[in-house]
Amino acid sequence: MQFRRLGRSGLKISEISYGNWITHGSQVEEDTAVACVHAALDEGITTFDTADVYAGTRAETVLGRALKGQRRESLEIFTKVYWPTGSGPNDRGLSRKHIMESIDGSLRRLGTDYVDLYQAHRYDHETPLEETMRAFEDVVRQGKALYIGVSEWRAEEIAAALKIADERGFDRIVSSQPQYSMLHRVIEAEVVPLCEREGIGQIVWSPIAQGVLTGKYLPGQAPPPGSRATDDKSGADFVKVWMGDEILRRVQELRPVAQDAGLTMAQLAVAWVLQNPNVSSAIVGASRPEQIRDNVKAVGVKLEKDLLARIDEILGDAVVSDPSHTSSPAVRP
Ligand SMILES: NC(=O)c1ccc[n+]([C@@H]2O[C@H](COP(=O)([O-])OP(=O)(O)OC[C@H]3O[C@@H](n4cnc5c(N)ncnc54)[C@H](OP(=O)(O)O)[C@@H]3O)[C@@H](O)[C@H]2O)c1
Repeated sequence: MQFRRLGRSGLKISEISYGNWITHGSQVEEDTAVACVHAALDEGITTFDTADVYAGTRAETVLGRALKGQRRESLEIFTKVYWPTGSGPNDRGLSRKHIMESIDGSLRRLGTDYVDLYQAHRYDHETPLEETMRAFEDVVRQGKALYIGVSEWRAEEIAAALKIADERGFDRIVSSQPQYSMLHRVIEAEVVPLCEREGIGQIVWSPIAQGVLTGKYLPGQAPPPGSRATDDKSGADFVKVWMGDEILRRVQELRPVAQDAGLTMAQLAVAWVLQNPNVSSAIVGASRPEQIRDNVKAVGVKLEKDLLARIDEILGDAVVSDPSHTSSPAVRP
C-alpha cells in the first residue's frame, strides 16, 4: 500500500480506501462484509468510508463490528451526515441539531470515540452555511471528529465554506468526496483547480463506475448473477445510469488497453483516478474479498500519456464532464 496526504492536512490515508455503500447491511451478508474488511486490512488498506444513511444506518454497525479489535490508531474511519436517517424533518440535512445528533449515532454504531473525517454528504440549501460550519467546528472541538470534509459540493460552495472558516477561525475543510472515474470527470473543470489552490484532497467515489469499468457487463446481455445490476434492494437502480449499450460497448474496447498495461480492467480504472495528483484516495467498493485483492494492485501504477490518450479516444463523448452535474437537492430530501 502507498499513502497520500489528505489535502494539505497532516493526515495520511491509504491510496485505496474501502467503502461500504450498497454492500454492508444490504446486498451482502455480514460474514461476507467482515471478510471484505479483513481482506482490505490484509492488503494494507487503513482508510474506511461509510455514512449514517447507508443501509438505513446498518452499514456503520456492520463496519464497526468488522473493525472491532483493530488498533484504532492504525485506522482512518470516515463517515457522513446529510441524507435522512429517520422520518422527521430534523433527521436530515446539516442543521446544528441534526449534525450534533447524527455524529453521536455514528460513533455509537461504529463503536469508536471519534471519526477521523466527518463529511457533509451534500450541500444543505435549507441551513445557513455558517450554522453548519460552526456545528462542524464544535464537533471537532468536542473531539468527535478530527477533520471535516464535504461530498459533492460545487466549487463555489466549497469556496464559501472556506471563507467562513477563515473569517471565524474555524477548522477548514480538508477533503472533497466527489464521484470520479474515466466516465465521470465533472470535478476536473472547477472543483479540482479550487481544491489544489486551497489544499483540499479528493477522496473519490465509484472509481470503477460501480463495477461497469470491470467490463463484466456486456452490451445486449443480462448482467452476471450476483452483480450490482441484479441487486433489487438498491444497487440495480444506482448502476443503471452506466448500463446503456453504447457505454458498455465502449468499455469493452478498453480491454486491450488494460491488457497492454498488464492490468485487469478494474485495476486500470482505479489507476486512472490515482493519476490525478489532487486525488488523495480512491474509495473502492467490493461485494467479495477477491475484488479488493484485484483492485489494490492499482497502487503505484503509472499510466503513460499515450495510453491515457487511447482511453480518451475510446470513451469519447460517453464521458460526462459538465461541472453542472455536481449539485445537491434544492430542498432537503
Ligand atoms: N459521497 C457519496 O455521495 C458517495 C456515493 C457513492 C459511493 N460513495 C463511496 O464510494 C464507495 C465506493 O462506491 P462504489 O461501490 O460505487 O465503487 P466502485 O468501486 O466503483 O464499485 C464497486 C462495485 O463494483 C464491483 N466490483 C468491484 N471490483 C470488482 C472486480 N475486481 N471485479 C468485478 N466486480 C467488481 C462490485 O459490485 P458487484 O460485485 O455487486 O457487481 C463492487 O461492489 C462507497 O462504498 C462509498 O463509500 C460515496
